[in-house]
Amino acid sequence: MKVLLVGSGGREHALAWKLSRGADAELHAAPGNPGIAALGECHPVRADDAEGLLDLAGTLDVDLVVVGPEAPLVGGVGDALRHSGFSVFGASAAAARIEGSKAFAKDVMRAAGVPTAEPLSVARPPCVVKADGLTAGKGVFVCRTQDELDAGLRAAASYGGPVVIEELLEGEEASVFALTDGATAIPLPPARDYKRIGDGGTGPNTGGMGAFAPVPELAAELDELLDRFHRPVLAELAARGKPFVGVLFAGLMLTDDGPKVLEFNCRFGDPEAQTILPLLDADVLAALAAAAGGDLAGVELPASDDAAVTVVLAAGDYPERGDAGSPIEGVEDAQAAGALVFHAGTALRGDRLVTSGGRILDVTAVAATLDDARTRAYQAADLISFAGMRYRSDIAAGATRVGA
Ligand code: AMP
Ligand code: GLY
Repeated sequence: MKVLLVGSGGREHALAWKLSRGADAELHAAPGNPGIAALGECHPVRADDAEGLLDLAGTLDVDLVVVGPEAPLVGGVGDALRHSGFSVFGASAAAARIEGSKAFAKDVMRAAGVPTAEPLSVARPPCVVKADGLTAGKGVFVCRTQDELDAGLRAAASYGGPVVIEELLEGEEASVFALTDGATAIPLPPARDYKRIGDGGTGPNTGGMGAFAPVPELAAELDELLDRFHRPVLAELAARGKPFVGVLFAGLMLTDDGPKVLEFNCRFGDPEAQTILPLLDADVLAALAAAAGGDLAGVELPASDDAAVTVVLAAGDYPERGDAGSPIEGVEDAQAAGALVFHAGTALRGDRLVTSGGRILDVTAVAATLDDARTRAYQAADLISFAGMRYRSDIAAGATRVGA
């Protein structure tokens, strides 16, 4: 099966790695990255260039297009390809609004009866201030004091769009993913992402600094979570004539009153995909093709009993700024130590691997226990270096007991 993967981050490298193991897979990517280039052919077409992607998909005569990131989905790249007759794994622009517009998401959740943070009409701490629209995970400000609220309102307003204020929810977070053809929804192993830049959950929000899966306390009730959160939303979107095909990602807060939705996203999480995909004992390419074809009923996505931990290696000034051109050392050593190393923001300068972005590399280790996976991921991460490299040292720490 000839597949065109759209995107260039660590999530897409993990997808490329998994998809290229599918039966008779021939992988192409647009634009891809140096890690993906080792698995398939990369083409210099941007992820948001619908016309360029249409041309490429036509020239290659691909059987399936898989769109990784949210921006092209919200921008309608999937629709353009589908309208031209291609089979596409990825939400339509109408369905992707569940991520692209917080107001739309709240309206769908209300109609579907899905528990979520209540919107507040007055900005008063404690509360959460959000810039509406796509902000790569950075437009959310948790405000416990008036000073934080003043700063949060200013920062959210700087995105230029509307600002949303809602109730502050407390608890541990979890990312719960459903693979769906719009009607059938299959769960993937639940993950926990570490959103803040600093150890102990300090500093600003980022796109995600690491993850582990499965989340022990959720593994048993996964199908119930889909019944409570994903399936009602899929039914509501279908009833509105906006069926959702792709990965529906619920970011949950596990509060004392039960799980509540922080946000829905229209795609795999990044870095959660780098953690989850290595756990799947399944032909993921066949499953995505089935979802794209509306034929997911009866498909199964078994996961191994192992655990996985991913540590993100970021630029020194991330999330404020990325880094470009700093040489990266030690990737082969980390791989030789048994880790998977996914490229998130890298480039080749000649044949030298250099930094090119905010999150640079994702190091994933899979082992029988979370403790072992964590130890191995950090041992491998320590073999890699580039100027300014920073990472959290507490990914999956204390997560090895149920309820921890
Ligand atoms: P979002 O982009 O809406 O998922 O928000 C990103 C992150 O901000 C979440 O993963 C949470 O850590 C935090 N967050 C968002 N909304 C809330 C909320 N209502 N209460 C507490 N934390 C929140
Ligand atoms: N890691 C969270 C996200 O992909 O939105």
